[in-house]
Amino acid sequence: MTVTAASPHDVKDLSLAAEGVRRIEWAERTMPVLRTIRERFEQEKPLDGLRISACLHVTTETANLMRTLVAGGADVVLCASNPLSTQDDVAAALVQNYGTRVYAINNEDNDTYYNHILAAVEHKPQITMDDGADVVGILHDTKREYLEHIIGGTEETTTGVIRLRALQGEGKLAFPIVAVNDSQTKHMFDNRYGTGQSTLDGIIRATDVLIAGKNFVVAGYGWCGRGLASRAKGHGANVIVTEVDPVRALEAAMDGFQVMSMAEAAKVGQIFCTATGNKHVLRKEHFEAMPDGAILANTGHFNVEIEIPALDELATEASTEVRDNVREYKLSGDRRIFLLADGRLINLAAAEGHPASVMDMSFANQALGLEWLLANYKELENAVYTVPAEIDAEIAKLKLAAEGFTIDELTEEQAKYLASWNEGT
Ligand code: ADE
Repeated sequence: MTVTAASPHDVKDLSLAAEGVRRIEWAERTMPVLRTIRERFEQEKPLDGLRISACLHVTTETANLMRTLVAGGADVVLCASNPLSTQDDVAAALVQNYGTRVYAINNEDNDTYYNHILAAVEHKPQITMDDGADVVGILHDTKREYLEHIIGGTEETTTGVIRLRALQGEGKLAFPIVAVNDSQTKHMFDNRYGTGQSTLDGIIRATDVLIAGKNFVVAGYGWCGRGLASRAKGHGANVIVTEVDPVRALEAAMDGFQVMSMAEAAKVGQIFCTATGNKHVLRKEHFEAMPDGAILANTGHFNVEIEIPALDELATEASTEVRDNVREYKLSGDRRIFLLADGRLINLAAAEGHPASVMDMSFANQALGLEWLLANYKELENAVYTVPAEIDAEIAKLKLAAEGFTIDELTEEQAKYLASWNEGT
């Protein structure tokens, strides 16, 4: 049966809702900033009647964002931004307990995944909320008739923002979008500490591998790669970083990591994890050079960073799933390569994604970025916008207060000194 917006929801099993509620409430305990926003939204109803289609990882943290939107009065539909990241108990709880229509089932096939996104589009959203620009992509391509309802959108992740800027660059972006990823309180924490921890968590949960003493290759030294490299080092790995950007490569070297080309790293790496946002970062020539037992994972948004068709071609027999989320490829020379989670983002496929405490800030940016968009969209162009710096700073202040950290204030004398150009040394 084809699912459409006329179907009230499509989740695995509504009887999982009670466990979903328990876990959503657990996450909420470490999301104080989002809770403060939700309490205000409940009073002020800034989203009253607003139709929102969200395409996000269906996790306990996303559930708390959905609760915030619903508290603000929004009419929300949620679909998954990855077929493997949906937590079925959370999807059930959102439908049953939190007034959100959800179209998402863990491990859904490609057709179902896209049908679910189409169901979200058929909600006739006024606001899109993407993680990877899938809804925006469809609205600009095969479902342009739905553009007429749109006020604007938000985008969660680096890969999505890159796509939106490409659309804007070609003069084709049809509505304003807030790039949540570009807030400092998002990428400096979520991409770095969230990805760093949850990626290692995913690799460990999938394989139970000991990280200490391993040659751990991190491809890409953006915010995610930086976080992952530092956390792998903390576990005692010998971390190797590969990069195409000379400045980032230098930074990695001076952060204390070995830096080399992937051609070199492939010969010595034991665990490889891509974090680049680009395609075919690990490809045939690298698989051919890898030692027996190499483990391959990806933590970038799309499953294109590892060239899986090349791995299939090199395999001397059909690959087999030797453990949940671990696929064994037998290669010539009696070598085996283990691909994790079919090359999909390992932290959400094999673990639970970033911890709630870090998603607190990311999703505070979603909620406040959306409120800002609603207040300003009439003056905005069809372009990609960053959340205003004051909102970013406010989120940091709220988080600091919630964590019990105090900071200093400039004295009058110091403020005057910083504002002057001629006060002497
Ligand atoms: N992206 C990474 N981690 C996430 C999480 N826990 N929830 C939603 N989106 C995420």
